[in-house]
Formats: sequence, C-alpha cells, structure tokens
Amino acid sequence: MTRLTTCPDPASVAARASALIVRALSSARDQRGHAHIALSGGTTPGLTYELLALQEMDWEGVHVWFADERCVGPGHEDSNYRLASETLLGPAGLAAAQVHRMQGELGPQRGAELYTAELQGVLGSPSLPVLDLIVLGIGPDGHVASLFPGAPALRISGPPACIGISDSPKPPPQRLTLSLPVLRAARGCLLIATGASKADAVSAMLAEPSEHVPASLLRRERLSVIVDDMALPGGAPG
Ligand code: 6PG
Repeated sequence: MTRLTTCPDPASVAARASALIVRALSSARDQRGHAHIALSGGTTPGLTYELLALQEMDWEGVHVWFADERCVGPGHEDSNYRLASETLLGPAGLAAAQVHRMQGELGPQRGAELYTAELQGVLGSPSLPVLDLIVLGIGPDGHVASLFPGAPALRISGPPACIGISDSPKPPPQRLTLSLPVLRAARGCLLIATGASKADAVSAMLAEPSEHVPASLLRRERLSVIVDDMALPGGAPG
C-alpha cells in the first residue's frame, strides 16, 4: 500500500521528505555498506535538497544518481545536475566519485548508453540495477522522471536502464530518463508534490494504473507520497 503523507505547506513537505531520505539512506548503508539514491529535477525538490544538506548525515558510502536529465551541459540553467549541485551536492560536500551525472550534453542516445553502462558497472546488475531510493516529482500530466503519458518507453519491460528521448512535451525535448522497470525495481520511491496544479495528477496516480498516468505505474507498496494540502484537496480515492 502507498504511504501517503499530507502536510500544510511546501516547507513542511520538504522537512518530511528530507527526514525520510536520511532514514532510507542510513538504513541502506547499515544493511549493505552503501546507499544509492537518484534525484529528480524541476522546481519542487530544491527545498527538500537544501534541507537534506543541513541534516546530521554521514554521506560516506552514499552514491547520488539522477532519475532524469535534460540534454544540456552541467552548468546550464535547465540542468538537473546543476540544481542538485547547488542545493545538495556542494553544501553537503559530496566527493565527485559519489556523484553519477547523466551526460545529457552527449545527446539522448550516447548519454543513455553511457549511463546504462555506469549503472550496471557500479551496481553490478546484469540487467536491472536496483537503487535504494528514487526521489520523484510529478507533472500535471502525471509524468515522473521523463516518462510521459502514452510514451512507448512505458512499454519497455527490460534493459536498457537509461533511455534517451527526443520528444518530451516538457521542454527541453531531448532528455535522458531512468526506465520504468528501474523505477519499479527500486527498493523505494519518494514522490513529492505541492500546489493545486498537481492535485489531479496525484489523485490519478493513486487510482487505477494507466499508461496515461506514468506515476500510477510505480510499485505502490514501495511508494511514499508526501504532498501539501493544495496538491490533494479532494482526498485520496478509495
Ligand atoms: C524534470 C523532472 C520532472 C519533474 C516534474 C515536476 O527533469 O523535469 O525530473 O520529472 O519532476 O516535471 O516538475 P516540477 O517540480 O517543476 O513541478
């Protein structure tokens, strides 16, 4: 069953989300000696990342990956890496060896090939890398990472772990994204949403699974959702 937490405002969403991330990473490292987290971009998670950087957290053994990336350079204003670097990676002092950037500047195909290889090389999975936690936002259309409604990528059931796309309806059009099987294989997904523009998508995510709502295809029993009151005014269905 999906764990749904509602908070009064974005600041309290960020506080709950950062605390959940610390617990998840600490537990993973205690169990396996290391922890692997993938981060999303967009405008929602920045406050969570800033609070996460202020937490009492030993980052030794933590590896940071990305759920998706735009096909731009790491210093571009659209770069998800730049967002994470400014809000979390720099302030928390993570070493370069702990950070696995998607090389979006190489383009969708080459960037996806290299990231798939890096995931398999580091996580040692012959087919499907298993991350400990994937932090996701959600679009008003129900997309997560760069998996959009009705996308052919939603029907891929196996490798590759990272997919290049060139027709994102959310600009920029060229992106890299973890595949749906990788999102579903993760030990946990944390989805955060704030604001009235996400209310319909969050409700649709919690309803019947549908390729029209990619977020609804996440593994429900491994999913934690933290929203503010504006993002779920009608209350969860069912
Ligand atoms: C991206 C994100 C994307 C984002 C949603 C929500 O690269 O654009 O990874 O999946 O999480 O589009 O974006 P906002 O947080 O800006 O609403």
